[in-house]
This record gives sequence, C-alpha cells and structure tokens, in this order.
Amino acid sequence: MRKKIAAANWKMNLTLQQGEALLDGLLAQSYQLQPHQEVVVAVPFPYLTMAVQKLQQVPQFYVAAQNCYTKASGAYTGEVSVDILQSVGVQHIVIGHSERREYFQESNQFLAEKVDAILAKGATPIFCCGEPLPVREANEQNAFVAKQLQESLYHLSAEAIQKVVIAYEPIWAIGTGKTATSAQAQEIHAFLRSELAGKYGAAIADNISILYGGSVKANNAIELFSQPDVDGGLVGGASLIVEEFAAIIKALP
Ligand code: PGA
Repeated sequence: MRKKIAAANWKMNLTLQQGEALLDGLLAQSYQLQPHQEVVVAVPFPYLTMAVQKLQQVPQFYVAAQNCYTKASGAYTGEVSVDILQSVGVQHIVIGHSERREYFQESNQFLAEKVDAILAKGATPIFCCGEPLPVREANEQNAFVAKQLQESLYHLSAEAIQKVVIAYEPIWAIGTGKTATSAQAQEIHAFLRSELAGKYGAAIADNISILYGGSVKANNAIELFSQPDVDGGLVGGASLIVEEFAAIIKALP
C-alpha cells in the first residue's frame, strides 16, 4: 500500500522558539498512526537540528528540508547539499515548490538534477508540481503538469521513480484560501497517476504517493484525503497552528 503523508511546509515563518513550541504542541497530541501513514515537517534550515532532535524519537515523524543544491560540496556560498542535510539527520527534501520556481527561477531541468542528487544519496525528494491560474482557466492544466513530470522525473528508472513523493499544488490555491474541490483534486491526481502508469506501468504508478497542496485545512482535509488518488497533503498556512495540523494528521486515511 502506498504511503499516506501529512507534510507541513513552514516556509519562511516562525522564530526558533516558535518552531520549538509548535513541535512540542504537536507532539503533545496523541496519534494512532498506521504503518502506511507518515508525518513530515519541512522547517527552515537553521531549525533542522532542533526539529530532528524532537522528532527522531517519534516513529513515522520525519523532518524535511525545503530545498537543496545539486552539488555535494564546494564553493557554492549560501547553498546546502544533500550530504549536509543527511549529516544532521534529514532524509526528506522538498524541491520545486512553486515559490522556488517563481522567485528563484528553478526550471524543470534544474529540478531533474536535484532529484538525481537526492536519490543518489538514498534520500526522499518531495517533488512539487502544479499550474498557475491562467493555465487552469484555459483548461490546460493536464498538459502543464504532465510536462513538469516529463522534464523532471521521466529520466528516472522504474525503481527510482517509486522513491519520489509527488505533491500536486495548483498555484492558484496556495495561500489563497481557495482550495481545489475534492473532485478537482481527484481528477488531476488520477490524471497524474495515469501519466505515470503510461510511462512506468500501473503497478509502479500505484506505489507512488501523490499529495495535494493548496489551502489544506483541518476542515477540508478529510474530504480531500478521502479521494482515492489523493495520498495526503502538503500544508503551508495550516501547518503553523498546532490544532490545525494535528487534525490534518488525524485526517490521514
Ligand atoms: P498553503 O500552502 O497550505 O498555505 O496554501 C501550501 C504550500 O505552498 O505548500
């Protein structure tokens, strides 16, 4: 059974002290996670060690970085490699978030290199894709996201692709309070899975977790996560509030 994942994306929010309090609050709740369920918390780089120390005691809770660079080490001021992340206990890395694509000009090709760098070290990429509003309005979202998969992931082997977690995040739903309806989410997730099946076969496509992101909240998580091709969520704003994110974790099917 493929993994169902509640992933928090703190983005560039919270002080260290606020982050500690948020994790302590989350850990104070009780969860009955099943073996196929996971929680991932993507925190700013300076908080990774703190977060690893808190979450490493808790089965099925993992810390993620929000980005990495493609090179292993060297003269790349300001960048962080997969090796550096692993040296502080981080094995999950979010890449290709729409904010990085938009503000830092990350291309599909560059993201293909990041996927390779992460998989080469045995870590887990959480690869984000999703269309902007004009593309959705023109009803061209399927071709748009298919191209993102093709250009960043389709060079991978059948074995490697199964180690990638995909997060579909329509840009028009991120931080806007506008969620895709559960039907819209299911429709495009099913499309993404059928694309993956076309390339790698149905059995492999069936093993790949596809998370939904874009204004996931406690009050819509159960409905979104109950869709057959939605395998959890990548959560921004609501992951900064203990009660919200705890409820989202508990909404995992
Ligand atoms: P949001 O962000 O939940 O605040 O819409 C989601 C994301 O960007 O990952």
